[in-house]
Amino acid sequence: LSMNTDQASNVRPILWEEGHLRLLDQRRLPHAVEYVDCRNAGAVAAAIREMVVRGAPAIGIAAAYGVVLAARTAYTKDPGQWRREIQDDLDRLAESRPTAINLHWALCRMRSAFEPIRGEPETELLGLAGKIHEEDIAANLRMSAFGAALIADSTRVLTHCNTGSLATGGFGTALGVIRAAFHAGTLQGVYATETRPWLQGARLTVWELQQDHIPVTLIADSAAHSLLAQRKAGWIIVGADRIAANGDVANKIGTYGLALSARHHGVGFMVAAPVSTFDPDTPSGAEIPIEDRDPAELIHCSGAALAPAGTSAWNPVFDVTPASLIDVIVTERGVIRQPDRDKIAALIGMR
Ligand code: MRU
Repeated sequence: LSMNTDQASNVRPILWEEGHLRLLDQRRLPHAVEYVDCRNAGAVAAAIREMVVRGAPAIGIAAAYGVVLAARTAYTKDPGQWRREIQDDLDRLAESRPTAINLHWALCRMRSAFEPIRGEPETELLGLAGKIHEEDIAANLRMSAFGAALIADSTRVLTHCNTGSLATGGFGTALGVIRAAFHAGTLQGVYATETRPWLQGARLTVWELQQDHIPVTLIADSAAHSLLAQRKAGWIIVGADRIAANGDVANKIGTYGLALSARHHGVGFMVAAPVSTFDPDTPSGAEIPIEDRDPAELIHCSGAALAPAGTSAWNPVFDVTPASLIDVIVTERGVIRQPDRDKIAALIGMR
């Protein structure tokens, strides 16, 4: 891929500036471009929980910078015992959202750097958080090239949720594949689901693609099946929040239905995710914790009630797509067709 991330995307959702973390407030997009300043780990955990920053890899990167802030606090409190003092903040970050495994992967990686540190930990840990951030962008670019190579000429694709620069270190997973295919000239346009109830598709994916001048058509989530029946999309391309050892994929609610529909209509179903999204310790999708969020997200939109007072609602925000419905998983290490336990172990074995 010849383009660099600045050319490919102008969106910078995660910044470390003047000694603290700045997160582009994704709750306010597309109406306002505003940053939230996080000066301690508690503020980072709150930002993750409240979806200031969201998307599996972006959550992991934000948490890594959260550990830098936590280490500063702990070292200021007790320089000799900072590894003990930091524990509550690490727990707070780990508990901020349950489904995206990238969060635990990033915290684990940061924690594994603690032991050899002598003196103040902030410099060393900031270096590692920056590395995690840079590596995620590099992984996006590599998987995007692998994914784009699978897309034949003159294709339109359907994507769900937001998997772009906003959801990652920069560039994107599924949206990275889409950007790369567009720049290669094979992709004609994108259909984006609105992604009820939080509207990641309508608010974020449409906005990101507009920034890059990639033609995008918004559809209601419920229009996806008619779109496929009319052969208007050649691929469905989505990201992942966690991939179990057997290849089952947890992703934004609605992904499972799209995979069922893709199989019924003979349309390819592609998942793009970095190795940090694989969870070898979770045997299958049945063991992946699925986040239930506040029913208010379903009942209200921009502060206005959509349903009668007293409505009871169920708001699971992820679902599990069985490996058998996935044609290909694209990673920075290459592609896995018809994913299963053995192929996944072979690819991520030496993670
Ligand atoms: O609830 P969100 O917005 O954090 O969910 C995000 C998704 O489901 C994305 O599709 C997933 O994280 C992959 S993003 C690279």
